[in-house]
Amino acid sequence: MTRDLHHLVYYSRNRIAADGATLCEAVRRILAASQENNRKAGLTGALMFNSGCFAQVLEGPLDAVEETFERISRDERHGEVSVLAFEPVALRSFGTWSMAFVGGSLEDAERFADVARSSGFEPARLSGDRLHEILRDLAIEAEPATARTPSAVA
Ligand SMILES: Cc1cc2nc3c(=O)[nH]c(=O)nc-3n(C[C@H](O)[C@H](O)[C@H](O)COP(=O)(O)O)c2cc1C
Repeated sequence: MTRDLHHLVYYSRNRIAADGATLCEAVRRILAASQENNRKAGLTGALMFNSGCFAQVLEGPLDAVEETFERISRDERHGEVSVLAFEPVALRSFGTWSMAFVGGSLEDAERFADVARSSGFEPARLSGDRLHEILRDLAIEAEPATARTPSAVA
């Protein structure tokens, strides 16, 4: 088994045909399954949902990142999955979160809309580093309100 620490950053379009409370519930279910599975797989990261898009950072052992991302990329609840970064990292950035959710507040929504605007809603024009940095800043700000789960060991 490959234990080398890697992270993967991607961006995708929502394909859940619902809005309001039904959409929130669907995203909540994705988050709950992610937290449970990621804890078992030794993965950490953050998920953002906003402006009809998902953005996610997954970090952990290479084989766990690959296996989980393969499942995620086949998920029909989103599409046009664009990988912005997939590389070895020395340390985890989300070591305390099996999957932080950072799309919840209006402030987050406004910040994400800014990013979306500045990239022309073109995932390929967003840098993986920039998206990673935004998700990390939002996760740290949201820390008290975010469901934290014991960190997986790198
Ligand atoms: C945007 C998005 C992000 C997801 N993130 C994760 C994740 O981090 N970890 C995970 O196990 N599943 C994630 N999923 C869900 C997987 O695609 C898949 O449905 C799930 O892993 C199956 O788990 P189950 O067999 O426990 O139901 C995500 C799905 C979507 C649409």
